[in-house]
Amino acid sequence: MALLKILHFPDPRLQTVAKPVSAVDDALRQLAADMAETMYAAPGIGLAATQVDRHIRLVVIDISEEKDQLLTLINPEIVSQAGAKEGEEGCLSVPGIYDKVTRAEQVRIRALDLNGQSFEREAEGLLAVCIQHEIDHLEGRVFVDHLSRLKQGRIRKKLQKLDRETM
Ligand code: NI
Repeated sequence: MALLKILHFPDPRLQTVAKPVSAVDDALRQLAADMAETMYAAPGIGLAATQVDRHIRLVVIDISEEKDQLLTLINPEIVSQAGAKEGEEGCLSVPGIYDKVTRAEQVRIRALDLNGQSFEREAEGLLAVCIQHEIDHLEGRVFVDHLSRLKQGRIRKKLQKLDRETM
């Protein structure tokens, strides 16, 4: 197991569109395990491969209090969605910044599990938000992209300064 380095906005690598996973093998399972360890250590509730500079369609999520309900999604797709709700979001790639984003309230997704088996499930509430946020990362989008240009500019400046100071 290994902790992976998380890219910070506005790193242009976060804009990369991830490629589908072609084989669910031991190397992929190792990456998923390392991503989960990195997410728990941060601590965070979701992490997309894009954020650790691996541009494949893989995300890990765990919104449980006990951190014992790890959900690994490979090649996730939203097959249907309903409703719209505004909620506050944050992101491990945008440290210290929280703002409101409107997302679908419920989603139905299809993905592969760590054995390469296809499954579908429904999600609502925080899990639905988290899934949409992570799939956004795979498309090269961070939640900041949903905010006004003015706010994006402020966040960019703030994080560039922060990353210079901690280098
Ligand atoms: Ni994020």
